[in-house]
Amino acid sequence: MTALRIGWIGCGTHASEMLLPQLVRHEVEVRALCDTARDRLDLAGRRHGVAPECRLGDWRQLLARDDIDAVGMAVGPALHHEIGLAAIARGLPVFIEKPPAPTAEKARELAAASQKRGVPVVVGFMKRYSTANRIAANVLKDPQFGPRASFLGEYMTAPTYFAKDVDYTGFYLHHCVHYFDLVPHLMGEVASVSARRHEIEPGKLLLHVDFRFSSGGIGTLVVGTHQSRGTPMEWWQVMGDHRRVEVRNVHEVRYYRHPPFKVSDPAATLADGTDTLVWEPNLTAAANEDHKGYHALLADFVRAARGEKIEVPDAAAGARAMALLEQALASAS
Ligand SMILES: NC(=O)c1ccc[n+]([C@@H]2O[C@H](COP(=O)([O-])OP(=O)(O)OC[C@H]3O[C@@H](n4cnc5c(N)ncnc54)[C@H](O)[C@@H]3O)[C@@H](O)[C@H]2O)c1
Repeated sequence: MTALRIGWIGCGTHASEMLLPQLVRHEVEVRALCDTARDRLDLAGRRHGVAPECRLGDWRQLLARDDIDAVGMAVGPALHHEIGLAAIARGLPVFIEKPPAPTAEKARELAAASQKRGVPVVVGFMKRYSTANRIAANVLKDPQFGPRASFLGEYMTAPTYFAKDVDYTGFYLHHCVHYFDLVPHLMGEVASVSARRHEIEPGKLLLHVDFRFSSGGIGTLVVGTHQSRGTPMEWWQVMGDHRRVEVRNVHEVRYYRHPPFKVSDPAATLADGTDTLVWEPNLTAAANEDHKGYHALLADFVRAARGEKIEVPDAAAGARAMALLEQALASAS
């Protein structure tokens, strides 16, 4: 198989430390890089063997090249929208970090352009791809689990970024948006969403988001900026009838079913099919470092860019997440 030739835009923290290192584990060649900051561009260029003349300061020059098969980017919401539209117009499959755009309206433009031109777009919703979340989602989607009645979850962060300049836009766009994709991914389409807001003090915001799903199920998501990032930040649970699945800290899955009481049973044991199943990764296994999901997400990007028709977090999912986020925030303000 020939390597997919990638043009990558944005060599900041996330791209340099997470995305590019995981991307190059696939059958790809980073052919050209772009960043307006020369030092970051050169660092990424040296790391990935990109020739100095292929390290560019202008993304338009990168998109104009005729030696790339696909584009990836992690720059920020406004540029994701602008560059994403330009890449689609060029017919180049594109990986766009979240959020795909600064507003739901602009995210819908991307989705419409992707659909009209038939150009694959993969949005960086890697929560779907974390190993634990994938296991749990597969349990939920197995008919044996039955109807999903409720979602309950927390996705927290710290006030670090908000205490000095109390503008929660970054919290909403860069943080909360993940769960406005993950929740419908786990529970199905959302019929309505609203939120209650409590600001403990400037920079410390708490939102309780209330979901009603088209299936009739209900959900509550707690997001906030008042917990320490030195502690685990994520936990969620989906309940069905006499069964529930929980994922703690994106690495531990518990599947509770309907076992009998053990206390008065001298023959009590652990029985297949009824007792609780628990999964955790072996974190000491060296070649197995992708439990947050970036590698698996980028694997699907490479497959989609090669023309495979697979289910991915596409531009339409990006637009849905942005729309749900905006609806929740509008109701809270
Ligand atoms: N999925 C995740 O877990 C996750 C984690 C962190 C960040 N992100 C997302 O990744 C994106 C980038 O975040 P970051 O933390 O790496 O930010 P960053 O500021 O470190 O990186 C952005 C990079 O884009 C470059 N840039 C800005 N304007 C440019 C332009 N016109 N042309 C070319 N390059 C330009 C900057 O110089 C910088 O190097 C954001 O959308 C963020 O939400 C996702």
